Amino acid sequence: MKRLNAVITGVGGYVPDYILTNEEISRMVDTNDEWIMTRVGIKERHILNEEGLGTSYMARKAAKQLMQRTGSNPDDIDMVIVATTTPDYPFPSTASILCEKLGLKNAFAFDLQAACSGFLYALETASNFIRAGRYKKIIIVGADKMSSITNYTDRATCPLFGDGAAACMLEATEEELGVIDSLLRTDGKGLPFLHEKAGGSVCPPSYFTVDNHMHCVYQEGRTVFKYAVSNMSDACNAIAQRNHLSKETIDWVIPHQANMRIIDAVAHRLELPHEKIMINIERYGNTSAATLPLCLWDFEQKLKKGDNIILTAFGAGFTWGAIYLKWGYDADVCTKQDS
Ligand code: UT7
Repeated sequence: MKRLNAVITGVGGYVPDYILTNEEISRMVDTNDEWIMTRVGIKERHILNEEGLGTSYMARKAAKQLMQRTGSNPDDIDMVIVATTTPDYPFPSTASILCEKLGLKNAFAFDLQAACSGFLYALETASNFIRAGRYKKIIIVGADKMSSITNYTDRATCPLFGDGAAACMLEATEEELGVIDSLLRTDGKGLPFLHEKAGGSVCPPSYFTVDNHMHCVYQEGRTVFKYAVSNMSDACNAIAQRNHLSKETIDWVIPHQANMRIIDAVAHRLELPHEKIMINIERYGNTSAATLPLCLWDFEQKLKKGDNIILTAFGAGFTWGAIYLKWGYDADVCTKQDS
């Protein structure tokens, strides 16, 4: 029997309607468009501001579009992985809520927590289930409602984040396509530099934790910046080298969208021109686990079967890595209007 590969056969995405501009943020904290654009590169982000809606709302929209685009029958989906740091509830999983919303009866579903690297981890995990031959159609979702854990009185973090979700279908192929190689790493020494201080078992919620914004992102930006640049660049270089990819044969790099200066530095270290880097940070900000699939969603029309793509991310943990993907199909006439 020939070796099975796991290939992406479709993409769906969703960002909420409400757009939070730099101008509006400048009225909330002491900042301005010039600082945010030059230091981070974000112009606006989409925010899910309707009360009572959480991450699964966006995940459902993205997955529903994916099901339509791939012509999938709900009964044929046998696994769902939702990468998120902002689940609807501490439990049950957002993946189980999503199964219910999509009417999936035959799926095994779970959430995966790897912060901003969540989509990379989900892609690698799902690929191995496909390669094993027991699972035929897996939906992986990167979805985060970062606005639910953002402190809008802290100028150091509130301009950075946005909300969004995107989903991919993974299926088996005997062609040399799909996830070819991956290099993923975790280093728990990153905890002090990027975390949410309360709400977990170490420090359950209390009036004190709420009053002190301890349920929001805490970040020591400069340290995270340095690790993000070096670890993403090193992971991309290592995966390129061991797969004999050169700057000529790499068609696209999809970097996590946390800071335009990080993206520039990674591109520079890889000696790749901007035309080969997928960038949409200006419109969405950092949507955590959703940044990589939202890039695929935005750039899908430009992709061709056989394109060599490197996805790379860095996030809390620390977690990071790079995946070498050979794109599986030529873009068809799907548009973002179908949802
Ligand atoms: O997605 C997970 C991984 N996360 C990341 O990859 C994020 C990595 N870090 C970063 O992207 C950057 O470190 C930030 C965007 C978070 C911050 O940029 P920075 O260039 O590292 O700024 P900084 O924190 O070193 O602050 C520089 C100055 C400070 O003022 P002083 O102390 O030099 O007077 C800050 O108080 O900029 C000030 N500052 C601001 N000024 C205007 C910080 N935030 C703002 C702001 N507006 N919003």
